[in-house]
Amino acid sequence: MNVKEIFETMDYGTAPESATDALNWIAQNGPFGHFINGSMTPAGSTFATSNPATGEVLAQITQATQDDVNAAVTAATKAQAKWEKMGGQARARILYALARLLQKHSRLFAVLETLDNGKPIRESRDIDIPLAQRHFYYHAGMAALMDTELPDRRAIGVCGQIIPWNFPLLMLAWKIAPALAMGNTVILKPAEYTPLTALLFAHICGEAGVPAGVVNIVTGDGRVGEMIVTHPDIHKIAFTGSTEVGKKIRKATAGSGKSLTLELGGKSPFIVFDDADLDSAVEGVVDAIWFNQGQVCCAGSRLLVQEGVADRFYEKLRARMAKLRVGNPLDKSIDMGAIVDKSQLDRISAMVGACDANITQASIEPSNAGLFYPPTLITGVGTADPLMQDEIFGPVLVSITFRTPSEAVQLANNTRYGLAASIWSENINLALGVAPKINAGVIWVNGTNMFDAAAGFGGMRESGFGREGGWDGLKAYTAPKATAKKIKPKELKTVSNKDVSDIDRTAKLYIGGKQTRPDGGYSRAVHDTEGTLIGHMPIGSRKDIRNAVEAAQAVASWSASTGHLRAQILYYMAENLSARASEFAANVDRQTGSNTGKKQVSDAIDTLFTYAAWADKNDGGICNTPLRGTTLALNEAVGVIAVLCGDENPILDIITPIAAALAMGNRVICIAPETAPLIATDFYQILDTSDVPAGVVNIITGDHAELAPTVASHMDIDAVWSFSQADISTVIEDHSATNLKRTWVNYGMTRVLSARDYLDHATETKVVWIPFGEG
Ligand code: NAI
Repeated sequence: MNVKEIFETMDYGTAPESATDALNWIAQNGPFGHFINGSMTPAGSTFATSNPATGEVLAQITQATQDDVNAAVTAATKAQAKWEKMGGQARARILYALARLLQKHSRLFAVLETLDNGKPIRESRDIDIPLAQRHFYYHAGMAALMDTELPDRRAIGVCGQIIPWNFPLLMLAWKIAPALAMGNTVILKPAEYTPLTALLFAHICGEAGVPAGVVNIVTGDGRVGEMIVTHPDIHKIAFTGSTEVGKKIRKATAGSGKSLTLELGGKSPFIVFDDADLDSAVEGVVDAIWFNQGQVCCAGSRLLVQEGVADRFYEKLRARMAKLRVGNPLDKSIDMGAIVDKSQLDRISAMVGACDANITQASIEPSNAGLFYPPTLITGVGTADPLMQDEIFGPVLVSITFRTPSEAVQLANNTRYGLAASIWSENINLALGVAPKINAGVIWVNGTNMFDAAAGFGGMRESGFGREGGWDGLKAYTAPKATAKKIKPKELKTVSNKDVSDIDRTAKLYIGGKQTRPDGGYSRAVHDTEGTLIGHMPIGSRKDIRNAVEAAQAVASWSASTGHLRAQILYYMAENLSARASEFAANVDRQTGSNTGKKQVSDAIDTLFTYAAWADKNDGGICNTPLRGTTLALNEAVGVIAVLCGDENPILDIITPIAAALAMGNRVICIAPETAPLIATDFYQILDTSDVPAGVVNIITGDHAELAPTVASHMDIDAVWSFSQADISTVIEDHSATNLKRTWVNYGMTRVLSARDYLDHATETKVVWIPFGEG
């Protein structure tokens, strides 16, 4: 064969990696028990894990029992305080040792990963394992910096971590490294199909000097995951996996006070504009959907191609597909390996089999026992087709065309997910103009599937919430040091014992910039603390919430407004409140029976100034990734936030969340404090006179317990905050599973919150990767 022929066929012959060391390691250590309190337990009732490329059984793995999980939690609980007290610098050394050992044993890890998962050795060797090492190095640094950079934060405690099978060691690193860095201890459960690298990691923990009980690894299927999720002595759950299980976990942990991060599925768009470098974009597609056999949560599985270049692009793509080598993943020249398990292969086959669109599949060598699926391209499907909307989690690309950039954005956002997107264009103005309009946590410009420990990774909507990596990911493994105290509920005066003092005031709701009557037509009397009737408040209902959400959704332009504009409006609100300070102070005194009105109003004005200041200063940043180019972390609005206000200091309890949310460009449905609702209704006039666009702030009065499930389950509300004195935290978390909105609830407790606390909850970070440079 001459050079020309080799170039044309791209046939390199085989270059198999030896599995001997990995198989020996399995033979010496299996059958496997769990790693609890620093040592391996004897194997219990076992199941097999096998090599999906050959069907051969690799090892016997123990299905954990409740007693095993309890033992792991006891060990983690016992170890936690000492581990945290050891200090950041001491923990940093141990994390550094883990990174070094991962590096030292990297070939063994890579081969074991490929055997157990079926991914090409090229990927486990060059991507999974190096990224896992990088995560431990990065977080060794974070441990060292914790005392100085996060002085107000502490460890959360014992963390339960449940990971999937697509990047077994990498997901372990994403979970364990930040948890340990911040002084937490962990119980990690690898996926039942791919437990081996986690068990090898357990072996190196001792060598690295990880104290007994700090890392515990229990194996088994979803039932073990459930035991972890519901264990009362676990303080945080971090989960990566399917949206379906993510929703179950959200419900199972509702009201438990466990902190939760969910990294779930996606249906990420891969957008090719007509001015893109089409050959590069084809290579991008290969990385987007045929990397790891398409079993990637952020896989670019929806290809959107601009009409004018679509035929040419498909032609290039089909030619490239035909050259992809599918087969033995231990062969270093293989592009695609095996699907992780037969159930997953069947699922992919069934989804593709049910479709009658135009399917192109590369031909692959038949295999008797190996679970291989060909690279697949599907065109000619409608936007609502299940193949366009549901995660296939296989090497299947589904494509449609678009005409204009705005249509591309519309199609890209036509999904219940919001994890990632790739944008391909040689026009940086176009690419960076489109990036902020796409609802996703990660955007790659002229690239795809780039990851690094320094850049937060995670999504929104049904892709879950929380970030892994960077400062955001780190914070999710910490809690505030400030202690919380139980809220003393205020009494709702319901009986009038005196005459009406003034002209009867019947307040209205405030929706879309207008005062409106409640849909139900009901109102209730409001009394001051002496029992004097001071007015009536409307009783808002489900329908009023819906109207308010519609009004808030209609003013999406607020989220794209400049920080400067938002600051001006917040200053204007402060100015107008200041002009009416004595009137508001008197109303506060009257409705709360205190003489704190003057101070509350003055504090509220300060608060408006504070968030006006932050509106153009909560900057985001540049993540220090190894990319040649720039990785931006943009601080964007969350969207529409519903706030159930507290009653402690009513004027502040209304103004603080509104101001924080507005500063970051959110739109708000504010549900007034239950015991002082008329303070919120007085606030309309401030909004009216301060140029706040209609729909940006909507105010509803009513019963918190009745309205909470409505806001928590509303599909067009992106987050719910509750500072309410009503016992509604459980209901909010439970109902929020509908669209996996972000929640921030008080569990009946109150503590002093900083501006940073509010801003973090008011912000959605979008990481934008922009490679650049020539030559
Ligand atoms: P899965 O979500 O069931 O499994 C992920 C992890 O969760 C595993 O460790 C599993 O044992 C555990 N688990 C299962 N049920 C649980 C429960 N009720 N409580 C706690 N933990 C539980 O994912 P599966 O069944 O392996 O794959 C099904 C589909 O999920 C895939 O076809 C794909 O669409 C999606 N998926 C998405 C992933 C992602 O990274 N976004 C990763 C894996 C799967």
